[in-house]
Amino acid sequence: MNYEGLKIPNHVAIIMDGNGRWAKERGMTRSEGHKAGFSMLKKLTEYIFSRGIKVLSVYAFSTENFKRSKQEVNFLMNLFETKFKEYADIVKKKGIRVVFSGKKASPLPDKVIRIMQEIEEDTKENKVGILNLCVNYGGHLEIVEATKKICKLVQEGKLSLEEITEENFSHYLFQDLPPIDFMIRTSGEIRISNFMLYQLSYAEMYFSKVYFPSFDCQCFDDAILAYNKRNRRFGGIQDENENN
Ligand code: IPE
Ligand code: IPE
Ligand code: MG
Repeated sequence: MNYEGLKIPNHVAIIMDGNGRWAKERGMTRSEGHKAGFSMLKKLTEYIFSRGIKVLSVYAFSTENFKRSKQEVNFLMNLFETKFKEYADIVKKKGIRVVFSGKKASPLPDKVIRIMQEIEEDTKENKVGILNLCVNYGGHLEIVEATKKICKLVQEGKLSLEEITEENFSHYLFQDLPPIDFMIRTSGEIRISNFMLYQLSYAEMYFSKVYFPSFDCQCFDDAILAYNKRNRRFGGIQDENENN
């Protein structure tokens, strides 16, 4: 779809959910669902950046997802290890910088951590847009980690309390990103599941019943059309003359 004349959100975030149910519905394994989800992610990423969105955050693996069976966690870690590089290469060619939000530490396998660091290093000069992949990510964890970074600086006398502001707080998060304008969650669940709690404060939210592996570019277009009908007030009022 042509986005000319439409309001385009600067930062879009997607909770990719429903891979397992998509597979179950088709008599396939959960792993096959994750594989299908990953191919849809590749297509969507290219499409989203081609439409003028500057920042895209995607929830790939939460801190809580380690509760899943060893088999499923291993499959996903293996998928990240073998597929992230080629995914990043496609994105890199478009001038997009790739960053990872989440704790780059155990229980994430060393190999996955290394690949994440390589990709960040390899794309760090890119300026066209930012792809933020959330892996071993939790919103609580991110805020706690930011608090620790700040306390350490204060303890060392490198930062004063007055210097901590709403304007610069995001600097201490996993990645310093602009606020999220539009959040999409697939699969029919209407919750945040510990995703980007700080950055979502004024985001418009869109919940689709479609399972992620079926959430294609047309579904994304529908979401953008819904976003265009929203009236973002940020605590203000729409019409200055209305309430007197
Ligand atoms: C989302 O799909 C992918 C990850 C959380 C890694 P799910 O695996 O949660 O799929 P459902 O929700 O069980 O269908
Ligand atoms: C959220 O999906 C995490 C990711 C999409 C990576 P979940 O499937 O883990 O969320 P819950 O458990 O249904 O809340
Ligand atoms: Mg799920």
